[in-house]
Amino acid sequence: MDGFSDQPFRTICRQFGSAISYTEFINTTDVLQKHPYILKRIAFQETERPVGFQIYGNSTDEIIKAAEILDDYSPDFFDLNLGCSERHVASRGAGSGLLRFPEKIREIMTALVTHFHIPITAKFRIGWDKTSLNYIEIAKILEDSGASMIAVHGRTRDQRWREPALWQPIEAVKNAVSIPVIGNGDVRTIEDINEMFEQTGCDGIMIGRAAIGNPWIFSRINKNELSQTEILEMISKHWKNVEDFYGREKALVLFRKHLKSYLSTPQFADLELKQLISAADPIIALGIENQPS
Ligand SMILES: Cc1cc2nc3c(=O)[nH]c(=O)nc-3n(C[C@H](O)[C@H](O)[C@H](O)COP(=O)(O)O)c2cc1C
Repeated sequence: MDGFSDQPFRTICRQFGSAISYTEFINTTDVLQKHPYILKRIAFQETERPVGFQIYGNSTDEIIKAAEILDDYSPDFFDLNLGCSERHVASRGAGSGLLRFPEKIREIMTALVTHFHIPITAKFRIGWDKTSLNYIEIAKILEDSGASMIAVHGRTRDQRWREPALWQPIEAVKNAVSIPVIGNGDVRTIEDINEMFEQTGCDGIMIGRAAIGNPWIFSRINKNELSQTEILEMISKHWKNVEDFYGREKALVLFRKHLKSYLSTPQFADLELKQLISAADPIIALGIENQPS
């Protein structure tokens, strides 16, 4: 997840049992223009393997050239993003914008599979909007083009994050292809994990928002049952990872949203936020006081 699933956070998720790491999505244009932030985005620890670099773009040529550069950093697989709904991505025909051009998806996936020896996977939404649900067509195109695994987010581009994710299309995709299918969308609790497996028959589950401030979900531990101390210790550990990785100044900015999620839990409902933050780490407290809100 852009802005969240960086190396400091993913390594914690892995310690709690996440099976695969995907980088935050990577703009292939930025790779070719050698934007320095890309190096942070593709950094990973050996303990994270298998790790996939998730890429997006709208030009086959550019995607291949960027992936050639990224390949030098030894990912275990490349994942093609066909799900991003952001206007600046989708309206230029990248991310979920490609769902309107299935044959272009075939072209890109075939080129990636042909060019690289590592597995190529893809993640997609179930269509552009409700009048153009083409998830079976997309799944089959990806499989025919050589994709090793696909992940399905049960919403259209038009829905963004509105309305509950549909899980029936995940089941339909699972029944339509023979490659592994990962289900995604609105898995928030341990019960949801079991339910998605049962309802869809999918091979794996991708957890997004519910993991923010809650890496315990990968161990099927209910965060609500943890003590304040356990949560505060995790905050300190995560903060240290972030500070080591980015340096204090940037870490202070980036860690705030994680901190807010860690503390959004009934165990901390009655306590003053500032007091909690100070308990978690005085340095974070200091930084937050100095940040514009
Ligand atoms: C802040 C944010 C950033 C995201 N960034 C990415 C991304 O870089 N790549 C991607 O495939 N999906 C991204 N997503 C979508 C999630 O991976 C996921 O498909 C979606 O949130 C639904 O799953 P969930 O209900 O488990 O969150 C992002 C979602 C959010 C909220």
